[in-house]
Amino acid sequence: MSADVERERPRHEDLVDERLVSWYFLAALGYMFISMLGGFLMGFQLIRHNPLRGIELLSPGRWRMIHTNAIAYGFLANAFLGALHWAVPRLALRPVLDRRLSYFIFGAWQVVVLSTAVGIMLGQAQGLEWGETPVWIDPLALAGLLLVAINFLAPIVRLRGPMYVTLWYFTAAFIWTFLTYAMGNFIPQYFVSGTSAGAVGGLFIHDLVGLFVTPLGWGLMYYFVPIMLKKPVWSHGLSLVGFWGLAFFYPLTGIHHFLYTPIPMFLQYGAVISTIAVEMVVTTVLINFFVTLRGATGALTNNLPIRWFYTGMVFYGLTCLQCAFQTTLTFQALIHFTDWVVGHAHMVMFGVFSMWLLGTMTYLFPRLLKTDWYSRTLCEWHYWLSALGIGLMSADLIVAGPFQGYFWASLLPWDVSVDFSIPFWAVRLVAGTMMFTGLLVFLTNLALTWAQARRAEEPAVLAAAA
Ligand code: HEM
Repeated sequence: MSADVERERPRHEDLVDERLVSWYFLAALGYMFISMLGGFLMGFQLIRHNPLRGIELLSPGRWRMIHTNAIAYGFLANAFLGALHWAVPRLALRPVLDRRLSYFIFGAWQVVVLSTAVGIMLGQAQGLEWGETPVWIDPLALAGLLLVAINFLAPIVRLRGPMYVTLWYFTAAFIWTFLTYAMGNFIPQYFVSGTSAGAVGGLFIHDLVGLFVTPLGWGLMYYFVPIMLKKPVWSHGLSLVGFWGLAFFYPLTGIHHFLYTPIPMFLQYGAVISTIAVEMVVTTVLINFFVTLRGATGALTNNLPIRWFYTGMVFYGLTCLQCAFQTTLTFQALIHFTDWVVGHAHMVMFGVFSMWLLGTMTYLFPRLLKTDWYSRTLCEWHYWLSALGIGLMSADLIVAGPFQGYFWASLLPWDVSVDFSIPFWAVRLVAGTMMFTGLLVFLTNLALTWAQARRAEEPAVLAAAA
């Protein structure tokens, strides 16, 4: 670390606005709660037991979109913004560009997410998967992403000396996310149509995963894991192979969402090859983290955030292994549109990125509230209900998928595959109940920990008032 950094190491409280980190985390947990309710509504509709049938604003189709958008733009985006407000200033040793701007972005982003939910409920969803945000909100969302990039890039560009791999990932993510959102929400809507719009839509869907949540997620892992294991990541060289491999191959993969469509075959083959290449790149990253764990495996039992992180990494490995198979045209012919894909999506969105962020919250909330968790047992319950719940949900849906594919290939009446799927969809609701209960346990523990912190403050507050 260069001489001026050592000399000027600012105090933590001058770098990080802890209140803002808490606000982002609480907003994120609120949206996960809403999203899960949407998942249940759609889940009960699919087993033909929708208790809220016939109410337009509660139509399952609309709430399915709220389910996915609340999780992506509500939970993941807010939780990432909270974690970034902790990690970026501490890595760059400078605060973000402007704290008032951070609070403005916080407010503006909640307006974007809540307006999206209301717009979708009123039937104004944009016809783009993962881009259902109504068209009148897109310019605000894009402006918000630009302000986020400016606010966080300011301390990073002023950094002197070597830049840690986490800041490579974050820097790329700020630029990629802005460009990806602009590409997906504006080009198919205003500039191209038909197959071209489909191709851009496919790139958008996967770039949201590959160029937004993936670089932010791995960036956070490269930041928190060495801190918690008190040792550096095994290979810096391998971490750069991972970064540049992701940067080169990921943007090319998106059309694997639309194989067997009129999109030209050279683009489809390109997507298949680059998807398999990404799996090789991901393997280098996983090797790097699991070799780092050598000699510290005890942390998997006694360090809960580390257990969340590595559970997420196992799900990441499984999800990417799935990708390497499902991207081949042979396998795709069987599983496209089946629950294999829905299982895959839940495994990556909850099993990987949500678990990484819930692990980050489990690590940071005691530091933000200046007290230990009220109950370690409740923390364990949160982990086990979430991990076993997502394990059951993804396995259940992934097993159902190929059966559905064979039913459809056999040209049996559609209802045959629906009747066959209902027990699997019922198991999804059981698994969902485990994940939802896990969330409720976490929220309860958080409220009790907050009350504990307030009680601990009281003597000091009274002394100050005396
Ligand atoms: C309370 C638990 C949950 C239940 C009951 C549930 C249920 C559902 C249902 C019924 C669908 C629609 C599937 C279809 O159209 O066939 C769905 C889609 C989806 N859910 Fe969930 N979900 C839950 C939690 C979550 C969580 C926590 C996440 C992410 C963190 C998530 C991410 C997704 C995604 C990404 C899709 C879209 C899948 C696709 O289009 O392929 N779900 N969920």
